[in-house]
Amino acid sequence: MLLRINLILLVAFALGMVAISLIVTSTLQENATREVLAQAGLMLDSAAAIRSYTETEIDPLLDDKMATAFRPQSVPFYAATQNFLTLHKEHPDYSYKEATLNPTNPRDRATDWEADIVQRFRNDTTTREVSGTRDTPMGKALYLARPIRVDAGCLGCHSLPSAAPATMLARYGNEHGFGWQPNEVVGAQVISVPFASAEANAARVRREVLTAIAAMLVSVLLVVNASIYVLVIRPVRRIARIADQVSLGDTAAADFPRGGGPEVAALSAAFNRMRKSLDKALQMLGG
Ligand code: HEC
Repeated sequence: MLLRINLILLVAFALGMVAISLIVTSTLQENATREVLAQAGLMLDSAAAIRSYTETEIDPLLDDKMATAFRPQSVPFYAATQNFLTLHKEHPDYSYKEATLNPTNPRDRATDWEADIVQRFRNDTTTREVSGTRDTPMGKALYLARPIRVDAGCLGCHSLPSAAPATMLARYGNEHGFGWQPNEVVGAQVISVPFASAEANAARVRREVLTAIAAMLVSVLLVVNASIYVLVIRPVRRIARIADQVSLGDTAAADFPRGGGPEVAALSAAFNRMRKSLDKALQMLGG
């Protein structure tokens, strides 16, 4: 009987483990993606903070120096890229780029997949954010992109070369980064965040949860086995042995035991009563 109960329990537990494992895996996967996306969003926000700091605090300081030589340090988008390049040295799997179709600085030129994203922003001006996953040489990464839009303040440097400061032309030439139109989306800020650490975390939590559940099921199995043995199997075996002796006419056989679960105890009591009646009946016959 124990074998059969154990088999049934094992099958039920195995099915339960598979179901739990599927649910846990997909939940953790969703969490990991959400976590990485939140990280990417925070990084894009910090790029915006760097830009506004540069515009309000650095640019005014460099105003007079700009007359003699162009200081890219005063350019908000330059500041953000430089900051993230420093971060990239420490964390090579994180990257930030101001991917631009027609950039002033060639390092900012959009690659194929980045140009596709910029094109999406250009085609649909209501799109505020685009995200997705990509395989990189450093492993799977999530990218998050937001459009870069031109406003009136940009035209002094990015419209016609003739409108741009001579010092800027001296440094960057007059071929790239011009001809931008007001309100045009010229590029996208693209941040790339690795999945590796979030995925490692998810795998660890999954392992811990499944191990804990497996341990719980094993304890349940042990407790069920011990209870069935003590409450049913052992007393029923004794009852069977005594009933055997009684059936062979052994009047010295012990009383049926009172232990075990209530049903087994009731059975024992019934056997004891039956045995007494049987004894009496035999005595009457013999007497
Ligand atoms: C004072 C001139 C100036 C103004 C004003 C200016 N930029 Fe620029 N911008 C530059 C220069 C110079 C660079 C290249 C910096 C570098 O070396 O990376 C640049 C770079 C950029 C880049 C990175 C891609 C590229 O072209 O290399 C973006 C995007 C950009 N600017 C957008 C803007 C926007 C949007 C505005 C208006 C909100 C603006 N800029 C205003 C001078 C300017």
